[in-house]
Amino acid sequence: MARARVHQHVNPLAKYFRELPVEPLHLEDVFDDPALPLHLDIGCARGRFILEMARIEKEWNFLGVEIREPLVDDANEIRDQEKLGNLHYEFCNATFDLGELLKEIPESVLKAVTIQFPDPWFKKRHAKRRMVKGSMVRSILEHLADDGTVLLQTDVEFIAEEMLEEFLQTGEFEMEKLGENPLAVKTEREIAVENKGLPVYRYLLRRK
Ligand SMILES: C[S@@+](CC[C@H](N)C(=O)[O-])C[C@H]1O[C@@H](n2cnc3c(N)ncnc32)[C@H](O)[C@@H]1O
Repeated sequence: MARARVHQHVNPLAKYFRELPVEPLHLEDVFDDPALPLHLDIGCARGRFILEMARIEKEWNFLGVEIREPLVDDANEIRDQEKLGNLHYEFCNATFDLGELLKEIPESVLKAVTIQFPDPWFKKRHAKRRMVKGSMVRSILEHLADDGTVLLQTDVEFIAEEMLEEFLQTGEFEMEKLGENPLAVKTEREIAVENKGLPVYRYLLRRK
């Protein structure tokens, strides 16, 4: 069957992407054991990072969110083929929809959030399209467990600073700058960046 064309970028501010029919996720509908700690990967693209994580970390559930729907469908298909009961992908606009998506998840379940190599939208007139905004940070804060962490990674220094500022200005996080990636798996983008010998800016945030 012919595959739908996957756009390189989509404009998250376009009407269609601001009005996605996102509904609250019920963990018991998508995971074998909904009580396991939850790792949320925001802007997961093809989802290979959490696919690999889900294969090796059976004591965690992994949820990937992504704005390009065909990538989400393909990733869920691979999840089904491999019968991974601790992995799920959702199509949504993380900037606007995270609050609604996470609305029904029980307290203290969300233990880890990763935001890795988000699209920089370099041009100033496109800055509004960048993924990490105050509303998204507030939704994370509302649901992140007291001992939960947020890992930010990017190869673009000003994006690192911008994301960090969105989190730190809430006054609710303390930050640690990391040299190495603490996770067992690297994202596709991280591998590409490292292969080019470029630096990666990494920050781990914990609730105060
Ligand atoms: C450069 S890719 C990085 C993918 C992956 N995290 C990695 O490190 O390999 C950024 C991804 O974020 C997605 N994205 C951008 N804005 C988004 C939004 N508002 N909501 C959800 N996903 C978004 C893009 O479609 C793209 O797949």
